[in-house]
Amino acid sequence: MRAFVIESYAHPSKISLTSDFPDPKPGPRDVLVDVYSGGLNFFDILQCQGKYQNQPPMPFVLGMEFAGRISSNSPIPNGCSFKPGDRVFGGAQGAFGEKVAVPLNNILPIPDNISYDQAAGLYVTWPTSYEALVGRAVLKSGEWVLVTASAGGVGIAAVQLAKALGAKVIAAAGSRAKLEVSKNFGGADFGVDYTKPGWQQEVLNITGGKGVDVIYDPVGLIKDSLKCIAWKGRALVVGFAAGSIEKLPLNLVLLKNISIVGIHWGAYAKNEPAHMSKVWQDLMELMSSGRVKPVVYSEVWPFDRLADGLVAIEKRQTWGKAVVRIREDDSVQARL
Ligand SMILES: NC(=O)c1ccc[n+]([C@@H]2O[C@H](COP(=O)([O-])OP(=O)(O)OC[C@H]3O[C@@H](n4cnc5c(N)ncnc54)[C@H](OP(=O)(O)O)[C@@H]3O)[C@@H](O)[C@H]2O)c1
Repeated sequence: MRAFVIESYAHPSKISLTSDFPDPKPGPRDVLVDVYSGGLNFFDILQCQGKYQNQPPMPFVLGMEFAGRISSNSPIPNGCSFKPGDRVFGGAQGAFGEKVAVPLNNILPIPDNISYDQAAGLYVTWPTSYEALVGRAVLKSGEWVLVTASAGGVGIAAVQLAKALGAKVIAAAGSRAKLEVSKNFGGADFGVDYTKPGWQQEVLNITGGKGVDVIYDPVGLIKDSLKCIAWKGRALVVGFAAGSIEKLPLNLVLLKNISIVGIHWGAYAKNEPAHMSKVWQDLMELMSSGRVKPVVYSEVWPFDRLADGLVAIEKRQTWGKAVVRIREDDSVQARL
């Protein structure tokens, strides 16, 4: 099969498509999936350079998020409700290949109104944002939410979800174009450019001096954002896209009776697997009803140009979810 195979560590700009890599061999609880679209993540950039926390033995196929169809020659393990041809999305090492072997627990059905490109970026991003807002921050209708990196993968999902849950959303991003994306594709009510000094005062003005009830932060901007948090607000630590792990003086937590709340979606698989099904059930309902809709970056890269997509993420050029097209979709969903 064709695949992005890592045989020696290299910067993403140096990786290329291999045309004759062996198909993956499914394990006893795996299914085989024909991959149509792959979701690109910052950690793919780290993994191809040997800098990620999870490094498979070489040679390995890059990629984690995908959408596709159960292969015609897939094994169907006992208890599997899927059949060959079913549209699925999920996560497994090796997503940037024409076929991927996936543990049965790591796939879900694609709602009819969602294309492969849209579904390719669902598996990590959307449950992270949903569980952060609903499970961890216990967001209530009518509350104010500030989302940093609001046009990014997890950020735009958080903006849409907060709106769907009845919140008032202030998007914070690094450019006017990304603020437009946050409003047009996310539905944000207000936007502030967080590269401009004093942006927190703008947030305070928007909220009538009260500040925001919930901060959703995948960047590492908790300390800066606390300047505009409300009394008893909750600040969600989602990630550190700016590059370094943020440190916080704890007097800031005490002064306004606030809570600093962590979210690590991947850790639910080990600690609370049953809860994951509930989150997915809620998300599927929101997606099937069209109240939220995955946002795909304007350029979908063809398979042989995957490296360009990874470099665009590294240069902070993308918004929404960056996606690579591995097979063309001839189904009706492609025209939605
Ligand atoms: N906790 C969890 O379970 C979980 C799950 C998924 C992802 N995450 C984490 O969340 C973070 C964001 O993921 P994502 O998929 O949304 O990424 P993404 O789509 O690449 O978006 C990241 C955004 O962060 C902003 N940013 C600010 N400083 C940056 C810098 N120095 N370099 C690059 N970007 C910078 C950029 O927006 P502006 O240009 O607007 O500043 C960029 O678009 C990552 O750290 C990821 O590891 C955590």
